[in-house]
Amino acid sequence: MADFAPAFQDIASDAADPDADFGLPGWTYRDPEFYRLEIERIIRPSWQIVCHASDLAEPGQWRSIDYIGESVIVVRGEDGAIRAFTNVCRHRAMRLVEGHSGCARKFVCPYHAWTFETDGRLTGVPMKADYPALVLADHGLALVAVELWHGFVFVRLTDGGFPSVAEMMAPVEAEVAAYRFAEMQRIGDLRLRQRALNWKNLGDNYSDNLHIPVAHDGLVRIFGKSYEIGAHRWVDRLKGDLVDRPSGNFWERFYQTHLPDAPHLPPVGRRRWLYYKLWPNMAFDIYADQIDFMQWIPTGPTTCELREMAYALPDDRRAMKLARYANCRINRVVNREDTWLIERVQAGMASHSYGAGPIARSEVCLRSFARKVRSLIPEARRHQPPPPGWSAQTMAMTGDHA
Ligand code: FES
Ligand SMILES: [Fe+2]
Repeated sequence: MADFAPAFQDIASDAADPDADFGLPGWTYRDPEFYRLEIERIIRPSWQIVCHASDLAEPGQWRSIDYIGESVIVVRGEDGAIRAFTNVCRHRAMRLVEGHSGCARKFVCPYHAWTFETDGRLTGVPMKADYPALVLADHGLALVAVELWHGFVFVRLTDGGFPSVAEMMAPVEAEVAAYRFAEMQRIGDLRLRQRALNWKNLGDNYSDNLHIPVAHDGLVRIFGKSYEIGAHRWVDRLKGDLVDRPSGNFWERFYQTHLPDAPHLPPVGRRRWLYYKLWPNMAFDIYADQIDFMQWIPTGPTTCELREMAYALPDDRRAMKLARYANCRINRVVNREDTWLIERVQAGMASHSYGAGPIARSEVCLRSFARKVRSLIPEARRHQPPPPGWSAQTMAMTGDHA
């Protein structure tokens, strides 16, 4: 795997950042050179969620994630351990598996039938004696780092010095524990949606608080004034508490009045919608009835893929099923409103008239994210793009390999 490791020094506070009062400039949401740098310095060395351990309940069960030109398989081995490998045969680089999930006793390459165990060892090569350079022990599948956090499986292509998921989530650990994530099971299929948006636009909007009262009437009806945001160093926390006054909207009112009790949660959590946005490109949406994760995977300077899966504690009550359905109906509207907004923000970012906009003190999550990006790619301080070719020199100096 690539061995690039940025000398990452997070600017820990706005006081140390001369550009703290500005958002990221528009050109960083469309520039191909900036995109290449952020892939190498932000996405490749960061943790990416793949699935939940319950999606890999049996030995041989696997899930995959495709991002930034890599395909990574996570699989439970015969010994019960969860490992990750690149989905690349060590002979002629053929993809070993196709699709997003499956179950395999062994991975047999469809090209020339090399056989790999679920722990990655290469154990079968037809006409083995015909390969002078072949050493079975050296040609197992390429390992990728894995972290398990409260039952969720994360992978990371390179170590760029970012903290572990557990370290990033430490400030919210006490709150998370009550939800019993590790006992949850998937309640829907993997959902992938392509968006003509720079990935940062998705994330910025996710933790943008000022648009809630302007653009989301439904959230205002169900949260009242209870919506709050906060930024820890690596995780943002957002929350709204359901108000009792019945909404005029059918599904909102249904959810308000029919959400079953969740006795495993502390009283304050039972009627709370809680969101964690984790550096750099994912979030957990946490409700008393279900949770989901969502990640926005860059696929180009102005395109990304939304990847989502939903989970819940086992609960067959009809009332719970209906509450989950009502939740989806409410959030479908919120998503539509957000998509409408950020498509237009992306279009605005294409204009050369836009440099960088001032951000309010209260926009703590936008500030936190922009500060990190500026730490990793100092050119993000410039309100207009450097002349074309600017990234080549930067990359050569810092050892980026793209
Ligand atoms: S490419 Fe996999 S066996 Fe040849
Ligand atoms: Fe929104």
